[in-house]
Amino acid sequence: MKLIVLVSALLLASCHAEPSPTIIPIEGGVQGDGVTTRYWDCCATSCAWDQIVHTKNGQPVQTCTKDGRTHSTKENNAQSGCAVGGVAYSCSNQVAWVINSTLAYGFSAASFTGGIDNGQCCICVLLSFKGQLAGKQMLVQVTNTGSDLGKNHFDLAMPGGGVGIFTLGCSSQWGTPPSGWGEEIGGVQTEEECNQLPGDLQEGCKFRFRYLEGVPNPNVAFQQVRCPSELVALTGCGDLD
Ligand SMILES: *[C@@H]1O[C@H](CO)[C@@H](O)[C@H](O)[C@H]1NC(C)=O
Repeated sequence: MKLIVLVSALLLASCHAEPSPTIIPIEGGVQGDGVTTRYWDCCATSCAWDQIVHTKNGQPVQTCTKDGRTHSTKENNAQSGCAVGGVAYSCSNQVAWVINSTLAYGFSAASFTGGIDNGQCCICVLLSFKGQLAGKQMLVQVTNTGSDLGKNHFDLAMPGGGVGIFTLGCSSQWGTPPSGWGEEIGGVQTEEECNQLPGDLQEGCKFRFRYLEGVPNPNVAFQQVRCPSELVALTGCGDLD
C-alpha cells in the first residue's frame, strides 16, 4: 500500500516536471528596466537587411515570401512587402511560444538607445515581467528596430498585435484592411478575434491572451543572454558559438 502511494507520488511528480532549459547571461551585455508594446506588421524585419546587420554569424534575419512559409533568398535583400512592389514578409513561424508555465520564447523589435538601433540585431534578451505578470519571463531575439521606439523599449512580435505605423504589409500579404486585424495600434481585443487571422498566425495571436493573460504592455527588467538554438534555427541569425 505504502509502496503504491510512493510510486504514484513519484509518477505524479515526474509528470509535472516542466522543461527547464539552461539560460546563460552575457556578462557586460545590455540590461536594465524596460517597457513593452506589441506589433505584427507583416513586414520584412529591419534586421533582415544584411547591410545593416552585424551579427556574429554574419547572417541577417530570414524573411519569407507572401505565403509566410517559403524562405526569401537572402542574397538579394528582397524588398520589404511594406514598400510598394515589395516581396519579402515576416515568416509566420517567427512568433512566441510557451516553454513552461513561467517561460516563453519569442521575437521582438527593440531599441536600447531610443529610435532606430541597428547595433543590437539578433541578440537575445531575457525579459522578466513586472506587475501582474511577475514571475513570468520571455526570452526574445531582437529581429527588428523601429523609429517609433523609445529607450529600452521592446515591441513584442505578436500576430494580431496591431500593424502600427506600417499599413502596407498585412494588407498586401494577407488582404487585410490597411489597419490590419483589429485596431491599427493594439490589434485585436479578444482571443476569439485571433481566429480571423491566417491559420499559421493564430497560435501566436492567442499567446497574448494565454501566456500573457491579456495584460497590455507589461513593464520588464531585462538581461542579455545567449540565444537558444531554437530561436536561431528560426531566424538564421544570432550569436551561437
Ligand atoms: C521554466 O524554465 C526556466 C528556465 O530553465 C526555469 O528557470 C523555470 O523555473 C521553469 N519554470 C518552471 C515552472 O518549471
